[in-house]
Amino acid sequence: MNGAAARIDELRALIDHHDHRYHVDDAPEIPDADYDALLSELRALEVEHPDLVTPDSPTQRAGAPGRNTFAEVEHRVPMRSLDNAFDVDELRAWTERVRRRLGADAPSGEAPPTRWACELKFDGLAVSLRYEDGVLVQAATRGNGRVGEDVTANVRTIGDVPDRLADGAPPVVEVRGEVYMGLTAFAELNAAQEAAGEKAYVNPRNTAAGSLRQKDAAVTATRDLSFWAYQLGEVVGGPEQGSHLGTLEWLDALGLPVDAHRVAFEATRHDLDYEIDGVVVKVDDLALQEELGFTARAPRWAIAYKLPPEERTTRLLDIEVSIGPGGQATPFARLEPVFVGGSTVAAATLHN
Ligand code: IVH
Repeated sequence: MNGAAARIDELRALIDHHDHRYHVDDAPEIPDADYDALLSELRALEVEHPDLVTPDSPTQRAGAPGRNTFAEVEHRVPMRSLDNAFDVDELRAWTERVRRRLGADAPSGEAPPTRWACELKFDGLAVSLRYEDGVLVQAATRGNGRVGEDVTANVRTIGDVPDRLADGAPPVVEVRGEVYMGLTAFAELNAAQEAAGEKAYVNPRNTAAGSLRQKDAAVTATRDLSFWAYQLGEVVGGPEQGSHLGTLEWLDALGLPVDAHRVAFEATRHDLDYEIDGVVVKVDDLALQEELGFTARAPRWAIAYKLPPEERTTRLLDIEVSIGPGGQATPFARLEPVFVGGSTVAAATLHN
């Protein structure tokens, strides 16, 4: 086996392992950025060696297989993801693209004034709640965006999620939002774990995901989960909405939890009792949103401005070399364990 084939095998095994730790055990071992680096290295090698691409390669599947214990729910309106901007220049470039697109279509050639709705990007897991005649009838995870998992029984245990909407709810309204575990709830859960001599949970996001995807909703009920609503899915017979912020006010009036921070900055990140990983900027005018439309993956009218990943300093304990199956040597660092980006890191690859 040549070096590339061996490294490809090694990367696939590593990625499978970390997928399992993340999606099944809810206990990731490495930060997202390191996982992304493994995946990009694999992708690059497969581009160089297309003959080595296999159908079961992690690059060929949308997400890791889940635990598969829930019925499937087909989303009538797909649950899309968001494109990211990692710095102010990328954010500015996106606003310019939006303006150009809107301007190109306008008879005057001039873009209409754009109001931007900014809200927090909550770090939990996306769910869609379906209310018929004001009564909660179904809750589903995002899944692959087209088909999710039916987690109705589990979501019914979340105190923040009303079983019934306020008077005046339309025949059908789907509400999209994020299920998360608040930082206080997370700390209390871990204090209870410790008192019982059990292992602590690693981070609120994965604990929320694991808690929601319990086979037995009675277990979910023991976890203090919360919910923020931020978007509409299918609506039948509702009032005409003109703006995104107006929509949020309507959801609030219907009795759904809507976060009051509609504009936030990095400086306030640590004043909040829940974790966020960015700010979502959306074109506020819904008619303009419609005009902008979607790419295959995400709306053109919204972007996630991601906060920079957390950095921590720790002590280098040792440098070791691991020998791969093809005999290639990969140096890595043994570190004094440090909690960063939602997981405890005790080793790091030394690519360069
Ligand atoms: S809007 C079509 N707003 O971020 C609109 N998403 O990285 C799509 N998220 O899948 C979503 N906070 O789970 C929206 N204020 C917010 C959000 C938010 C968190 C999540 C959501 C989405 C993911 C994309």
